[in-house]
Parts: sequence; C-alpha cells; structure tokens
Amino acid sequence: MKKDIQQKISKLIIYYFSGTGNARNVTHWIENIAHKYKIETQIIDISKLKSRKDITIPDNALIGFCSPTHGFNFPPIMFHFLLRFPRSRKNRVFIINTRAGLKMGKYFLPGMSGLAQFFSALILILKGFRIVGMHPIDLPSNWISFHPGIKPKVVESIYRRRKKETERFALNLINNQKDFKGLRTILIDLLISPIAFLYYIIGRFILAKSFYASKDCTNCGLCIKECPLQAIKTVDNRPFWTYKCESCMQCMNICPERAIETAHGYVFAIYYLITSFLVVKIYKLLQINRFLDNIFLEWLSDILLFFIDSVLVVLLFIAFYRIFHYLLRFRFFERIIVYTSLTKWKFWRRYKIEKRF
Ligand SMILES: Cc1cc2nc3c(=O)[nH]c(=O)nc-3n(C[C@H](O)[C@H](O)[C@H](O)COP(=O)(O)O)c2cc1C
Repeated sequence: MKKDIQQKISKLIIYYFSGTGNARNVTHWIENIAHKYKIETQIIDISKLKSRKDITIPDNALIGFCSPTHGFNFPPIMFHFLLRFPRSRKNRVFIINTRAGLKMGKYFLPGMSGLAQFFSALILILKGFRIVGMHPIDLPSNWISFHPGIKPKVVESIYRRRKKETERFALNLINNQKDFKGLRTILIDLLISPIAFLYYIIGRFILAKSFYASKDCTNCGLCIKECPLQAIKTVDNRPFWTYKCESCMQCMNICPERAIETAHGYVFAIYYLITSFLVVKIYKLLQINRFLDNIFLEWLSDILLFFIDSVLVVLLFIAFYRIFHYLLRFRFFERIIVYTSLTKWKFWRRYKIEKRF
C-alpha cells in the first residue's frame, strides 16, 4: 500500500470538538493511520484553544476538521471556529461530521448532516482552501435527552464498522485521492437545511437548556471541570447550566452519581404555555400584528413576525429557566420534575464511550 503514495503530505493537523468521544475517536483513528506512514501529525481539541493566535498553518499541511453534528449543522463552537479560522491558499482540507448512527436488526442506519458539511465547505472555500474530503461518519447517537443510550453490543458493532470506514477515508487522503461521500445525500441535506437554521436560532436554546442536577448530586464539580464550553457554574451549591451550554451531552454521561437529568415534563409544559398562550397575549397587548401590517408588505411582515416570535419564545424560555432553577430548591417542586423526567428512569441508559484508539 505504501508504494501507492504519489506525493506524501508533509504534515497533518486535525482540529476537533467532541462531546461524548465519537469525534475524538475518529480523529485519533486518522492520526494512527498517518503515523503508520510516518506523517507528522498534530491533533488539536478546539475547546482547549485559548486564542486564534494559537493556530498556525504550515504550508502544504493537510488540515482536517472533525466535529459531531448538532441540529443538522456543526455545533456553534465548531461553526464559529471555522468562521475565525485564518485564510490560506496553500492548504488542502477535509471535513468530517460524526452523526447519529443507529442499527436495526442487521441494518446500519445513517444520521443526517443537513448543513454540517456544506456550510463548513463554503466557509473554507471562501477562505481560499481546497476541499479534498467531505465525509460523515455514523457513530452511535449520543442524543440521550431524546432517546436512551444505545445498547453496548450495538455500540460495539457500529464502532467496528465505522473504524474501518474512517481508516479507508484516511488512506485515500494520504494517497492524495479525493473522497466526497458527504455529497451523496446533498438533496436531503439541502431539504432539511431550514430545520438547521431553526435549531440554531431557537431549538438549541429550548431543547438544550433543560439539564438539572437531582438530589443525588454530591457537588463533586466534575461536570463543571470537564465541560468543554465552561457552561456550567455553581449556584446554591449545585451545578447550574448557563446559556453557553451546547447540549453536547458530556456532563450527563460522565456524572459518577448519574445525577444529571433532563426536565422533559417541565420543558413540554412551558413550551405549550409559551406558544399557545403567552406569545399570543403579548402580541395582542403590543398590537404587533396591526403595527407590522400597516407599514410592511404582507410577506415582509410575515418574515418579521417569525423573527419576533423566535426572540419572544427564547426570551420567555430564559425567564422560565431561571424560575425553574429557583423552584428546584423546594423539595416538592424537585419531586415533580424528577417524576416527569424521562432520563431519571433506570432503563434510560447513558452513552459513555471510552477511548477507542
Ligand atoms: C444536541 C444534539 C443534536 C444532534 N443532532 C444531530 C443531527 O442533526 N444529525 C445527526 O445525524 N446526529 C445528531 N446528533 C448525534 C451526534 O451528532 C452523534 O451522536 C455524534 O457522533 C456525537 O459525537 P461526539 O461523541 O463526538 O459528541 C445530535 C446530538 C446532540 C447531542
């Protein structure tokens, strides 16, 4: 295989972000292949980078970006990192998004990328880079506020398959070949891209901030220390999730007491209250509809209404989130939250993935 290499790459640098370890594992599998070919490799966890000044791009280095998919896009930490990434005309780049892979019987089911690949590719092309690889890797889904963690046996089998796929991808790049598997689902990805947009402006504020520490919390501080976004702080001797949280799922999975939960019942009740009642009342009170209809064309006023709606929903969520956290101090309220949370039940497995490299 070594003979096939036409023009060896001088250096490989991979920038990655990972919540529960999938993207980190992929990054290290590629590093291992590069090492076999004696290629100097540097792996950088972007959540640990202090400033943009720490980023250097040697000429002719192959650069990779690897991150989980969140809401049919890259999570904001990676997306903003790409926006701030320096320009270069001399480097080739590749993009990997790890997705929610599932397995039904003997069939492996893929996740969905949405904008994760295209948006990042567009940003990098505009910065002068040459894209040589766009590849999603379907590792087990870690979105355990939505579903219980996948069974360990299934995790194993998905991992075995995807490791081989990643290694083939790495070999292609090292052999100076292009690999654009990410383009195969372009139509579906473009069709679901409006959801990516909605998730970015509303979804991540609503779905993401429903974590709380139950009475089992010993305030050991592990979640606060390990949070890649420094989004958890201590309030009233308990962890409190600020709006910096990107719902990467790390805290829920590493908590030694299994004391971090998602408040499903509360979120649904508040969502219902806000969308069906409060927003309508505020509109009436401020006469927003009439005001917009008077001064704008109908289509423009609809777009503006959508934005006002989104901002109102997010602001009301923030207010209710604060109230929620205050009320958690009272045992009666905490019990209601515990019994209406799905993650509290024993069968709701966590997704704990060890180092696999
Ligand atoms: C908040 C959130 C949103 C997600 N959205 C998507 C998605 O849109 N498409 C998808 O295929 N997987 C989605 N997933 C699953 C993860 O992208 C997937 O499990 C990934 O491999 C996790 O990587 P990590 O362990 O490096 O964090 C989502 C997970 C979370 C926590």
